[in-house]
Amino acid sequence: MDLLLDETYWRTRYTTGQTGWDVGAITPPLQDYFKQLGQPDDRRILIPGAGRAYEAEYLHNRGFTNVIVADVAPEALEALHQRVPGFPGGHLVQQDFFTLPAVPPYNLIIEQTFFCALPRPLRSDYAQQCARLLRPGGKLVGLLFETDFGLSPEPPFGGTHAEYRAYFEPYFEFIHFDTAYNSVRPRQGRELFICLEKK
Ligand SMILES: C[S@@+](CC[C@H](N)C(=O)[O-])C[C@H]1O[C@@H](n2cnc3c(N)ncnc32)[C@H](O)[C@@H]1O
Repeated sequence: MDLLLDETYWRTRYTTGQTGWDVGAITPPLQDYFKQLGQPDDRRILIPGAGRAYEAEYLHNRGFTNVIVADVAPEALEALHQRVPGFPGGHLVQQDFFTLPAVPPYNLIIEQTFFCALPRPLRSDYAQQCARLLRPGGKLVGLLFETDFGLSPEPPFGGTHAEYRAYFEPYFEFIHFDTAYNSVRPRQGRELFICLEKK
């Protein structure tokens, strides 16, 4: 039987310190992307499955005022709150990504090691939900593992460029979908940087 990757599973990963995905800082591909976003403003930015959310911290410190962090694990949200007490409490959302409301819509969704943490059968639902949450022209930007992690019942789950394209093609124009050049060392050559625009 498949392992249930529910709130209890993720909370236990945090409370037992099994958070190997957490690199402890914003990653270079996302930092470089954020640097070219222009002047900070109130565009709506969603970081789902955000974990300890170093990307939200970075955006908040740069002056972006409408960054929403969603995660099923309160421990993850609490870690951001402890590091950045000034981050708006109302922007910390403990909720399943698939039940997030699409109103008001988002300008930008950030992906990093959330897609690979989901059960594989939810991958096309992920693409559809991202599209539902974005305004037309809104973007899904981030990183997808392009590697094979084997048959472990636990995440991360890998995949291929071609497999991923099929999930996103119905909803998005592909602006960028290629191997990242500036990944953190253990992920070098093993992840795609994606920038997809909602049709
Ligand atoms: C592998 S971690 C990645 C965390 C973060 N993105 C990072 O790069 O450090 C996956 C995160 O997704 C959260 N998560 C898993 N399923 C979720 C769901 N359906 N809705 C919202 N969050 C979820 C987990 O609690 C966990 O924090």
